Amino acid sequence: MTGAQPAKEAGDETLLSVRDLHVWFELRQWGFLRVGSVRAVDGVDLELKRGEAVAFVGESGCGKSSLAKTLLGLHRPSQGDVVFAGRSLSELDKAGLKDYRARVGYVQQDPYGALPPFMDVRRLLHEPLIIHGVRNKAERERRVRQVLEEVRLTPPEEYLGKFPHQLSGGQQQRVVIARALILNPQMIIADEPVSMLDASVRVEILSLLRRIQQEHQLTLAFITHDLSTVRHFAERIFVMYAGRVVEQAAVDDLLEHPQHPYTQALLAALSDPDAGNAHRQAEIPPGEPPSLINPPSGCRFHPRCPQAMAGTCDVDEPPDFEPRAGHLSACWLHR
Ligand SMILES: Nc1ncnc2c1ncn2[C@@H]1O[C@H](COP(=O)(O)OP(=O)(O)OP(=O)(O)O)[C@@H](O)[C@H]1O
Ligand code: SF4
Ligand SMILES: [Mg+2]
Repeated sequence: MTGAQPAKEAGDETLLSVRDLHVWFELRQWGFLRVGSVRAVDGVDLELKRGEAVAFVGESGCGKSSLAKTLLGLHRPSQGDVVFAGRSLSELDKAGLKDYRARVGYVQQDPYGALPPFMDVRRLLHEPLIIHGVRNKAERERRVRQVLEEVRLTPPEEYLGKFPHQLSGGQQQRVVIARALILNPQMIIADEPVSMLDASVRVEILSLLRRIQQEHQLTLAFITHDLSTVRHFAERIFVMYAGRVVEQAAVDDLLEHPQHPYTQALLAALSDPDAGNAHRQAEIPPGEPPSLINPPSGCRFHPRCPQAMAGTCDVDEPPDFEPRAGHLSACWLHR
């Protein structure tokens, strides 16, 4: 065949990859004596494709935000590496990191906390452009208005002069999303972007993120506790437990055929008719999440796992198995 190659589909190409990533926080007594480490992320491998939306789920304290901040370049890995568009973050100097932060937008959980209260919307949106060298004021203003239209804060004139406290929670989060978008990023990382908002606007904000992601073919990685809506907003899910990714698959495959006992317990809790409305946070399986200072030997889930096999699960750490095509689960049951 001659002529042009077929256009690359979204999802063909790796944008970001992580190999054997560890993020440990040192614990010190009296400010200097090292007494241990919190292993917030402890051996994560993953690959995110250009133009795909992925969700990270897992109960509180399992390392989701630590992973997100490391992908954003805000935490340095204790071991392992983050590679973005073929370049390792560890190779980047200060200017390289500044450029990287322009290419990856960040949407935080608490929009009010993310927005300096003394800046109006115009200044909040001009600022990143100024920092990244857009000197022409008219050009900045054009881009600011364009991005306000994109996040549906219209007409822009109605919002440009407002301060964060004059906006509703949903409008504040739209401004945060506008700030994340204004430098034309290739990826957006959203850490529980709707958990602090009224239930009535949660789906609206997730739909907005998803629409922007699809229109611009961005990679979107978002953290959520809400497994019941994830199907509509992501193509793949990563399930985290105690600093590790224990299961990863396409959303439908994972929700319909969960393989790891931890994921099965999370989903069983979600379908419990006594558990309340569909937007509540996923209930955790019985038992306590393990200490990340001294995590359990073998499989970290073994003290809570109804299917744990003595002599195996408490001794040897399970690698990733592939019990279904493209569906990985770190559990000895798939051996
Ligand atoms: N800067 C830090 N210094 C010390 N420990 C930290 C730091 N950041 C996070 N941790 C610890 O690392 C572990 C993982 O925290 P992380 O915030 O990543 O979890 P998470 O999955 O995002 O939880 P949540 O769902 O509650 O937001 C926790 O034990 C937390 O206390
Ligand atoms: S490896 Fe063992 S303890 Fe861990 S999830 Fe599988 S069966 Fe349960
Ligand atoms: Mg978190």
